[in-house]
Amino acid sequence: MQQYDTIIIGAGAAGLHCAANAARRGKNVLLLDHAKQAGKKILISGGGRCNFTNLYASPENYLSSNPHFCKSALSRYTQWDFIALVDRYKIPYHEKTLGQLFCDNSAKDIVRMLLDECAEHGAKVQLRTDITAVEYDQCYKLTTSAGDYNAKQLVVACGGLSMPKLGATPFGYQIAEQFGHSIIPVRAGLVPFTLHEEQKQRFGEVSGISVPVTAASGDGYFREAMLFTHRGVSGPAVLQISSYWQPGEPVSINLMPDTDALDWLQSSQHNNPKMQLSTLLQNAFPKRLAIALIDEFNWPGDKRLADINKATFNAIASQLNNWQLKPNGTEGYRTAEVTLGGVNVDEVSSKTMESKLQPGLYFIGEVVDVTGWLGGYNFQWAWASAYAAAEAL
Ligand code: FDA
Repeated sequence: MQQYDTIIIGAGAAGLHCAANAARRGKNVLLLDHAKQAGKKILISGGGRCNFTNLYASPENYLSSNPHFCKSALSRYTQWDFIALVDRYKIPYHEKTLGQLFCDNSAKDIVRMLLDECAEHGAKVQLRTDITAVEYDQCYKLTTSAGDYNAKQLVVACGGLSMPKLGATPFGYQIAEQFGHSIIPVRAGLVPFTLHEEQKQRFGEVSGISVPVTAASGDGYFREAMLFTHRGVSGPAVLQISSYWQPGEPVSINLMPDTDALDWLQSSQHNNPKMQLSTLLQNAFPKRLAIALIDEFNWPGDKRLADINKATFNAIASQLNNWQLKPNGTEGYRTAEVTLGGVNVDEVSSKTMESKLQPGLYFIGEVVDVTGWLGGYNFQWAWASAYAAAEAL
């Protein structure tokens, strides 16, 4: 039986950062993962360039059953702290858009940095280890495929359910439940919408076309691009709003976010009475999309603007500025970037990330019911919650 001060389960973003910082503070740390490689999600994130934080990260960018929970950790380890670490390793990066920082070269730079930090401070990273049992009797006892381990503290950094092919499992939630924690129901977030069959066929024809929109649902409102795909709709506007969407609800899409569509239609009628509606729409949207919209809403595309009445213009304007799009569902965990819900934050200390129910048990990163927007916010939560726990271990 090997003894450690702290065992961390999950060598992802949160687990690696916590291991390095706990070891820096003198803890004897073992970091376990069943995967062959550490930080797999970091490696594929941001199209292989890892959007590792956001210049504007703040608590407003997170969803949780308790929106105040994330404040403490985020304020004690900010984006500037992580940027300072990246600078120390001389990793080149750039702001892509909206404060999103990406590596210039590769996400491998971030994983290498985190592993170097673990090595420098003496945290042991052990991969390919299946954990078959976790028990508590004065200390935590882990039975694994590589032997048995004891530790005074156990940090759960197993992440969420998104992308099972990258090693995601419900293990973190299972450990939480084993020690009496409740789980806020989980669902896929930052995920494309699928459409009902007829709409899927229609908009499948315009797959690859992206348009600037605003998307609103529940408390969420985003102004970014929407992309039509073979399955439905995606792009940053859709991924963002998916985290706020409830099944069965419509999403309000404004296809002309800078234009009052009724004004535009009426002034076009006045200026170009002989123009066909379809021609007007093709001036405003890519041609194939204009045709798909005419088909979707049964607009009189062949009619001259002069021959279209006020009621019809009202209907078209409302569909352009406030399209009530009803998704069929989402693509689910297969393509979701994050998992909403997770370990109930009411049962975890926001200062230390320690369980309020079980001494020495900590939860960090995505396994906790804190989910960020698209744009580097989820990694910032992983770094900040990991640091909060490491300071308390
Ligand atoms: P993470 O998932 O990183 O790590 C969990 C670890 O636990 C894994 O190594 C896993 O193998 C291990 N594990 C799970 N079950 C286990 C078990 N039973 N036994 C042992 N080990 C186990 N965010 C962002 O801010 N910017 C971005 O650019 C992106 N891009 C992005 C792209 C894609 C495709 C995805 C899927 C996700 C993103 N994200 C993102 C989200 C981000 O990757 C995510 O929020 C963090 O990786 C969460 O960090 P964690 O350490 O909590 O979990």
